[in-house]
Amino acid sequence: MITNPNHTTPAPATVPGSPRVALEAWVARVASLTCPDAVVRCDGSPDETARLTQQLVDEGKLIALDPERRPNSYLARSAPDDVARVEGRTFTCSRTPEDAGPTNLWRDPDAMRAELDDLFAGSMRGRTMYVVPFSMGPVGGPISQLGVEVTDSAYVVLSMGKTTRLGPEVLRAIGAGVPWVATVHSVGMPLRDAAGTERSDVAWPCAETRYIVQFPETREVWSYGSGYGGNALLAKKCFALRIASVMGRDEGWLAEHMLLIRLTSPEGRAFHVAAAFPSACGKTNLAMLQPALPGWSVETIGDDIAWLRPGSDGRLHAINPEAGLFGVAPGTGADTNPVAVETIAADTIFTNVALTDDGDVWWEGLTPEPPAHLVDWTGADWTPASGTPAAHPNARFTVALDRCPSLAADVDASVPIDAVVFGGRRSTNVPLVAQAPTWAEGVFMGATVSSERTAAAEGTVGELRRDPFAMLPFCGYDMAEHWSHWLDIGEQLGAGAPAVFQVNWFRKDQDGSFLWPGFRENARVLEWIARRVEGAVPAVESPVGLLPDVADLDVRGLAISDAQLDALFAVDPDSWLEECRRTEEFLDEFGGRSPAVFTAVLDERRAALHAAA
Ligand code: GDP
Ligand code: PGA
Ligand code: MN
Ligand code: MN
Repeated sequence: MITNPNHTTPAPATVPGSPRVALEAWVARVASLTCPDAVVRCDGSPDETARLTQQLVDEGKLIALDPERRPNSYLARSAPDDVARVEGRTFTCSRTPEDAGPTNLWRDPDAMRAELDDLFAGSMRGRTMYVVPFSMGPVGGPISQLGVEVTDSAYVVLSMGKTTRLGPEVLRAIGAGVPWVATVHSVGMPLRDAAGTERSDVAWPCAETRYIVQFPETREVWSYGSGYGGNALLAKKCFALRIASVMGRDEGWLAEHMLLIRLTSPEGRAFHVAAAFPSACGKTNLAMLQPALPGWSVETIGDDIAWLRPGSDGRLHAINPEAGLFGVAPGTGADTNPVAVETIAADTIFTNVALTDDGDVWWEGLTPEPPAHLVDWTGADWTPASGTPAAHPNARFTVALDRCPSLAADVDASVPIDAVVFGGRRSTNVPLVAQAPTWAEGVFMGATVSSERTAAAEGTVGELRRDPFAMLPFCGYDMAEHWSHWLDIGEQLGAGAPAVFQVNWFRKDQDGSFLWPGFRENARVLEWIARRVEGAVPAVESPVGLLPDVADLDVRGLAISDAQLDALFAVDPDSWLEECRRTEEFLDEFGGRSPAVFTAVLDERRAALHAAA
């Protein structure tokens, strides 16, 4: 039943008046729909952060960690069924289903607005509604965008304070007429119903019904029922990828699921690399890489999202629109990612990790041996004999980027991209590294990536699925159109376009062990990529791209046999022909809208595989 006469708020652009007035009018409309007890306008100040933190601790929603061991850090435990993005409840409400494409769940926008009206009506009763103005990228930057998130979760406000630029300068820019994206979030658990019956709060409020809804044309996001990560921090996946990808299509730029690094060679040449891997496939680790090769260094610019725009110099320029990290905790340890370990030594919110008896945190992979006793992510006693993971596999840390010791000093500036890298988690077939001979073949490589599912989203872990550009859950419009957009941008860039590569750190031997040591040793692959960009080393042609000449991949000091190296680069014609068959099936899902050049690339690949068979 619709308990409020106001229809769900119109898009901000259709609210009359100046943008600041439009913001106020929009906030008022959301409040009159959701009926919070109070409206608080956030500015991200230290006082506000301290007040909200204390409030969450008092309410039992955050556990303060021992300030000696983990200063200014907190643990949150989610509801056991609210632990990852919910792709099955994520909707793209473009005007037509064709615009959403076959990889998105489409709903008619008007029908969805009516459903949202019912859900959000009174959804904040008994709670405070926070208004969070934020900037993606530095305020006023050439690739930056503004947004506002309205939320009834103080945990979300604190997380947004770490991962976005939240502050009064955003309101000033909105007041000066800069457009902004409107996002609304409710955990969907009012503390009072329409009749006035109260219910008590819980440590992690959420609802059984969940909706993560994007309206691409009106640049709006509505999220209901979840408090977790990409479902609730709406600046991240919902805005910076789903909505921004549509803005980029319309305005000639790209919003991508990519880390950004600056790699510097021993000769002092800087290479900027943008790499797209699916969730939980190694972006944060590569972004913080400490090269195992002497003389090489890596500076971190971003670990999850890049916005890229062709510059007047004919090159592709990129920024990290975020200001913080929402990183996977399990597997993060001193031997795999020491930079992350240092980054999260203080000022961090941990979610769904285990609590130690001395008030610190632990997760699988933090240390080689687990402590003898822990409280696990569900709040239950845990010992190594428990037989269950102490931390949830998608447990996360939330921390501001400025704590990262390898952060680039000029992180606010845009950087010209030298290499685009696509990756995934493939135990078979895909070589350690290959270069695309042309831009079109690079776009094909990105479009046809498949990867084994991880715990970052609901679904069966390990199952192979297509994840084009690592954007399957994040592209706000028809994926085939996204590929054409990439081809157009390549055409525009011409000789200034980045080189394109594919990597796979996850190939396994017959016993199921990783063939490649990964982590800091991935610098050896980055070195080859940089040398290819420089034109300093030749490459060997294969049916699936240009491979390194074994002599050019520096494996000195690695315990890796020639047989293992061969296995890392093996291209088995039969299994690749089968892969081609499945690729064709996948491209057919786009009903003739997949770029014509892909057919040519696939035909060529098949001919080369037949010749090699
Ligand atoms: P992201 O979600 O894409 O940012 O991925 P992360 O960097 O957080 O890594 C996800 C998981 O993959 C973690 O458990 C890592 O320890 C693991 N991982 C990352 N890089 C590598 C690698 O090079 N080799 C292997 N075997 N595992 C890796
Ligand atoms: P990541 O980001 O797993 O790519 O780090 C969060 C997510 O994709 O949900
Ligand atoms: Mn991600
Ligand atoms: Mn990450």
